[in-house]
Amino acid sequence: MNFSFVSGDATRASGELLVIPLFEGELGDTAPSSLAAADTALEGRLRGAAAQEGFKAKGEQSFLMHTHGRATADRVLLLGLGNRARFHPETLRLAAGRAVKAALRLKAGSVAFVLPATDAAADAVRAVAEGLLLGAYRFDKYKSSAREEKNPARVGKVALVLPEGVEKTRELDDALALAKRVGEATNWARDLVNEPPNAVTPTVLAEAARQAAKEAGLQVTIGGLREIEKLDMGMFLGVTAGSAEEPRLIHVVYTPKSARDAKRPPLALVGKAITFDSGGLSLKPSDGMIDMKTDMAGSAAVLGAMKVIAALKPPFPVHAFIGACENMPSGTAYKPGDILTSRLGKTVEITNTDAEGRLVLGDILTWACEHRPSAVIDLATLTGACVIALGNYITGAFGEHDGTVNEVLQSARTAGEEMWRMPMSEMQKDALRSEVADMKNSGERWGSSINAALFLKEFVGETPWVHLDIAGPSNSPKERGYLSKGGTGVGLRTLVEWVRLRAANPEAYEAAPAPTVKGASKAAGKRARKPARG
Ligand code: BES
Ligand code: MN
Ligand code: ZN
Repeated sequence: MNFSFVSGDATRASGELLVIPLFEGELGDTAPSSLAAADTALEGRLRGAAAQEGFKAKGEQSFLMHTHGRATADRVLLLGLGNRARFHPETLRLAAGRAVKAALRLKAGSVAFVLPATDAAADAVRAVAEGLLLGAYRFDKYKSSAREEKNPARVGKVALVLPEGVEKTRELDDALALAKRVGEATNWARDLVNEPPNAVTPTVLAEAARQAAKEAGLQVTIGGLREIEKLDMGMFLGVTAGSAEEPRLIHVVYTPKSARDAKRPPLALVGKAITFDSGGLSLKPSDGMIDMKTDMAGSAAVLGAMKVIAALKPPFPVHAFIGACENMPSGTAYKPGDILTSRLGKTVEITNTDAEGRLVLGDILTWACEHRPSAVIDLATLTGACVIALGNYITGAFGEHDGTVNEVLQSARTAGEEMWRMPMSEMQKDALRSEVADMKNSGERWGSSINAALFLKEFVGETPWVHLDIAGPSNSPKERGYLSKGGTGVGLRTLVEWVRLRAANPEAYEAAPAPTVKGASKAAGKRARKPARG
């Protein structure tokens, strides 16, 4: 998609489809100049026809009309943005997604998109460009009909029409460049999620990470079973034991160029990467297993975010830590009743092999915290209960470090990703008490998302930590705005925003102590304090 900025009469802007977003009431006297111009070109018929069809510019409303050669565009599309007082750039991102889907349906190869006059033009540019890029996404490479199509619909050119009085500035160029990176990285992450589990194995995921890191100029280290054994990640080893696919340990590092910046404590990003979750011996029923290729969505979003972060160049290092494997039943699989010893030294009784994510993440979080980050955030499709609680579009945020949790919530809000803080009540902790080990991996059904978060908490020590349960929003059940059915790439924009937020004030964040555990073996204690290789 090629973007350009244009000024002046929208009806003269080049594009087969002219898109004019409107707030409620703007069909009347307060019409923006673009609508007035289009209406004049169409001899006063546009507003009348739209009104007659019941178009009031409410959110999610749209109205399409042919121009019969009276404007550069063949058609004009009015997009409802709803109430101006409740405007958030996310409204525009969703509307742009609907517009590009309409363009593709109409086989319009180019679009002129009128930017609405809002408080911050740069935010509008970013939202529109991201909405268009994300909305144009399709995953149809396995459809013979799509592969054989000679002229697949494609929007190649977009003219962004600046509102009256707004000049093209460096700030708008930067917003557009960031939007392109975010849009492309999100679609890349969506591909990883949508690819079937026989295509994206742990090995393939690691190779995708390697290639992405190389292209972005990031350092990458990939380990296999041997490295996982050397790191004593007993929980990770338990989960991968039943699979014929080799596990992978992925470590991607961004280091700032300046030596002073490089010495700052890093940010640590962790992503769940179960490339297929059958449940293991505690096998899932068929209905619950069908979407379980998406159980690596957290790692896809983290890796996608790293691509963008490499270009943002924040003044502190950023590390991504990922443990990738399958969760499968077999003669070598880990069993209910097994007791596993984590890297941190804590022992865990397995009561349900389907609570596998927290096991891998526990070991990976310990490893991440050994690098003494200023904060660690994990993205994980962790619990079905979080989907029950918050539905398909809202992420659950857990953590006890209020400052960091609030930063992440604020970043999510700026990014237009809905997120809701969940409690981590110690009252629930009984659920994980084991008779035979330090804890068990799964408790009762009630409060299952909180139990999972409390389990993870055991492995981060004093490091400020936020856990994002993306089990719902990682996968959209239907088309909506810029979302298509399937992988969404959720969390990527929040991570990018969080890094931007911290980059504005890098001095404020100190390294946290690495986790240590009382009662663990001496070796484990020593190990926990020493930064690991890789
Ligand atoms: N990957 C699943 C969680 C999940 C469910 C993600 C639905 C996306 C959609 C996770 O590994 C899991 O199986 N969780 C169990 C935990 C339980 C056994 C304690 C769950 O939520 O049922
Ligand atoms: Mn599971
Ligand atoms: Zn899982």
